[in-house]
Amino acid sequence: MSGGEKPSVYTKTDLTYNDYLKVPELISLQKPLSQPEHHDEMLFIIIHQAYELWFKLCLHELERAMDHMEKNEPLKAQHFVKRTVEIFRVLLGQIHILETMRPIDFLGFRDHLMPASGFQSLQFRELEFVAGLKEPAYLKYFQNRPDYLERLNYRLSSRDLNASYLKMLGGMGFSVPAQDTPESHEAILEGIRPIYQKPESHLELYLLTESLLDLDQALAFWREHHVKVVERVIGFKRGTGGSSGVEYLRSQASKKAFPYLWEVRTLLKIEN
Ligand code: HEM
Repeated sequence: MSGGEKPSVYTKTDLTYNDYLKVPELISLQKPLSQPEHHDEMLFIIIHQAYELWFKLCLHELERAMDHMEKNEPLKAQHFVKRTVEIFRVLLGQIHILETMRPIDFLGFRDHLMPASGFQSLQFRELEFVAGLKEPAYLKYFQNRPDYLERLNYRLSSRDLNASYLKMLGGMGFSVPAQDTPESHEAILEGIRPIYQKPESHLELYLLTESLLDLDQALAFWREHHVKVVERVIGFKRGTGGSSGVEYLRSQASKKAFPYLWEVRTLLKIEN
């Protein structure tokens, strides 16, 4: 370096696309179990791995959204919720790739993945818990993984989108209880009603609130599309995780992370 020249931060001249993204490692992680290898098992592995990568990013984005909510910064929070919604739109479309897998082809390798199941997706359950859908009963699917249990227990006991949102509303002068319980539900509905009654007076909050609803809707759409694809591929067979399959999945389709955001619409009226 000659005198006066500034050191460059770009000294890693040999850094390549493949090194930076760890492509060799990434594309060595698909290990079909069928022998001889069934052609469609590669699709099945890659689609699930792609979901898990996106789930990782969703969790990352939602953490940041909650940071902003806790600082009473609705528009900054909305930026990250909106990104998560867009990711979920991609996830929604992705499930349909599996419709190109003929039922008889899935049967060609399904036994090999038994008893592995979507029930054991740590990150999907984390996403539900982060949204506020905290159901400890699902911990039983992780009994043989103390590290996963620790992660889920952490999610169960720490903040979630619902709690951060209500905390933010309280911090911004809205009269809302800190938690959505059967006793506090009505008070929450009344507390948030002004945001929907006069959106232009609470524009930043309105945008964030609608993005949270978009997220809830995207999750619900994913459940609906997933169960349709499952019915199409395995009919009414039981799941590899031991559930009744389609019947169980349908029972989950009406889950709502933000029930009060759906209900508040019913209460709106023109005020003079
Ligand atoms: C042919 C494709 C698929 C079939 C036949 C299928 C089947 C099932 C079944 C039957 C269940 C119920 C649990 C059980 O008993 O195992 C389930 C749950 C689940 N699956 Fe899939 N699945 C498929 C694709 C996917 C994909 C691509 C993902 C992406 C991550 C996924 C994620 C999940 C998750 C997260 C659950 C738990 C849902 C809940 O508890 O609400 N599945 N799946």
